[in-house]
Amino acid sequence: MLPFDRRTGHIWYDGSLVDWSEATLHVLSHGLHYASSIFEGIRVYRGEPFLLDHHLDRLAASARILDFTLEYDRETLREAAREVVDRAQITEGYLRVNAWRGSEIIQTAALHTSVHTSLAAWELPAGYYAAADALDTGVRLVTGRYRRPSPEYAPVKSKAAGNYMIGTVSKNEALRAGYDDALLLDDCGNFVEATGAHLFFLKDGALHTPTTRCTIDGITRAAVLALAAHRGVETVVGDLPPAFAQEAEGAFLCGTACEVLPVASIDGHGYQVRGNTLLRSLVDDYRALVEGRLDVAVENPWAPVP
Ligand SMILES: Cc1ncc(COP(=O)(O)O)c(C=O)c1O
Repeated sequence: MLPFDRRTGHIWYDGSLVDWSEATLHVLSHGLHYASSIFEGIRVYRGEPFLLDHHLDRLAASARILDFTLEYDRETLREAAREVVDRAQITEGYLRVNAWRGSEIIQTAALHTSVHTSLAAWELPAGYYAAADALDTGVRLVTGRYRRPSPEYAPVKSKAAGNYMIGTVSKNEALRAGYDDALLLDDCGNFVEATGAHLFFLKDGALHTPTTRCTIDGITRAAVLALAAHRGVETVVGDLPPAFAQEAEGAFLCGTACEVLPVASIDGHGYQVRGNTLLRSLVDDYRALVEGRLDVAVENPWAPVP
């Protein structure tokens, strides 16, 4: 795959579209040195960024948690998103929004730095997140090396670049060992999520998912909870110890990138994927939702209070 810095097109950078190769930042940027950097990943379906306002509102919340304020309001970023997607003529793709502190100061405290913003979009090839047949076969997960810190120890509710080192190292190790992703536990040893997706189990006709105490509140997770309610499926949110993986009849991941993705096994314990009718209907419902064939409202807890 062509490296991202060698691609062509246009990137929205601090208020205007610039040539892809000119969307650079200085090596002495606070965002690079101290991870004062946040982002959103947004899917584009049929040329439209999906749940765009949810993502832009979460971006603003992530900035507030890292003690900075975005330079642009939601309306400006909404138009910027449409501009980059339209300019690149993307129908099925991905939009990446970043915001980070600039280079006025290189020390921990950063009260007076500039804040920069970029939006870039690209077509998403099949198999970007998981193998093309993963919807049928499921992904194989293994418990990762690192745990998600509790909210007392890190700004876990911010989609902050710094929080991702845990996932990168854990997923690298999982891939090297022949798995598809790592599952991260929390400070108490309960399941939290995979490295870039939330986790659900299926048991006795109900869905069970961990709390989000130690991670971001997911937009796809909210969509799945809404779809389950729409189907009249019971959902239980609570602490799930690793032993729950043995009791469950099935599992799936969900996230902007992986959508609703069946799990084939957790730490070697296997699940039936093809024959799991509830799981298949949730996969189908999510597809119908993103394609606009199903009208179910998805909660946006980050929306500004009018
Ligand atoms: C660590 C982590 N957990 C969960 C998710 C899924 O969240 P969402 O459904 O909002 O994409 C993501 C992706 O954004 C993530 O990076």
